[in-house]
Amino acid sequence: MGDLSSLGKTIADLNGEMARGLASVNDTATLEAFRVEYLGRKGRVSQLFKVLADVSSEEKGEAGRLLNELRDGITRAFEERATTLSGCALEERLTRESVDMTLPGISRAIGHMHPLTRVQREIESIFLRMGFDVATGPEIETEYYNFEALNIPADHPARADWDTFYISDTTLLRPHTSPVQIHVMESTSPPVRIICPGRCYRRDAQDATHSPVFHQIELLWVEEGLSLANLKYVLELFTREYFGEGYTMRFSGDFFPFTEPSVQVHIKAPGASRWLEIMGAGMVDPAVLSAVGYDPERVSGFAFGLGIERMAMLKYGIDDIRAFLTNDLRFIRQF
Ligand code: PHE
Repeated sequence: MGDLSSLGKTIADLNGEMARGLASVNDTATLEAFRVEYLGRKGRVSQLFKVLADVSSEEKGEAGRLLNELRDGITRAFEERATTLSGCALEERLTRESVDMTLPGISRAIGHMHPLTRVQREIESIFLRMGFDVATGPEIETEYYNFEALNIPADHPARADWDTFYISDTTLLRPHTSPVQIHVMESTSPPVRIICPGRCYRRDAQDATHSPVFHQIELLWVEEGLSLANLKYVLELFTREYFGEGYTMRFSGDFFPFTEPSVQVHIKAPGASRWLEIMGAGMVDPAVLSAVGYDPERVSGFAFGLGIERMAMLKYGIDDIRAFLTNDLRFIRQF
């Protein structure tokens, strides 16, 4: 080399080669390799600058200008390519990640209340509106709360009616929520107006209408001057709210150790001929009131106990109590 015209030719060749090479660069890794090859510290442009040493002093200025122009040109070309490539990458990403709003969405099933919970809440809300409070208690009870305080002494044959699962000699899984009423009366003075919902256990073989695990709601109202007429009125209100208008109701005699008199409550749908038993009820036995320190001469009360499963079965025409426990979604989803 040594003269300007040969340097000019070298520069033109390099520019041409660079432009063709750059045009085929399509990704950032190749682009970086390109940058190192041409613009790197030991790259082809830097190498070319070395010729300045051999150029005569008159031509040095012009040679330097040409080389600088080459370097600036290649740098600009490189930057333009980099901008184009990142634009393409963005566009490609936008296309790849774009959401097609016309596609059907993914629907996620939201669970809902179990039919028993729904019926329990519905019954609770009816009595809450009438002024009753909801009281709950332990599922493991002592014999005292489950039997003795409810006027069922150890040798009483009625214990067999509530035959249940014993945890120890004196503690058991409650067969009804009546013990909750004893707990509440022991710690409050009258008037008492409560409903007691909860899970109960009985040593029953499982069939279409029996289950060793079931749910109850019991009610207790103790105050001065209550009679069976008040019980009947409360039950008529309840029946109207829960089952609907036009039902007739009938009491027939029954026996429970903790109520006197005791009744079985039946209702009949408008136009129907069959009576449906919905609960056991009665006036709280004076012995129960005395056991919690109430004066049976001053206050009286009534109570009832209903099965939540039974209430749900009657209302929705379910004929097998086991459906509540097997968790078949085809059944559960209907509620
Ligand atoms: N405790 C009774 C039962 O479980 C139901 C009941 C409650 C009956 C209150 C009368 C009064 O069978």
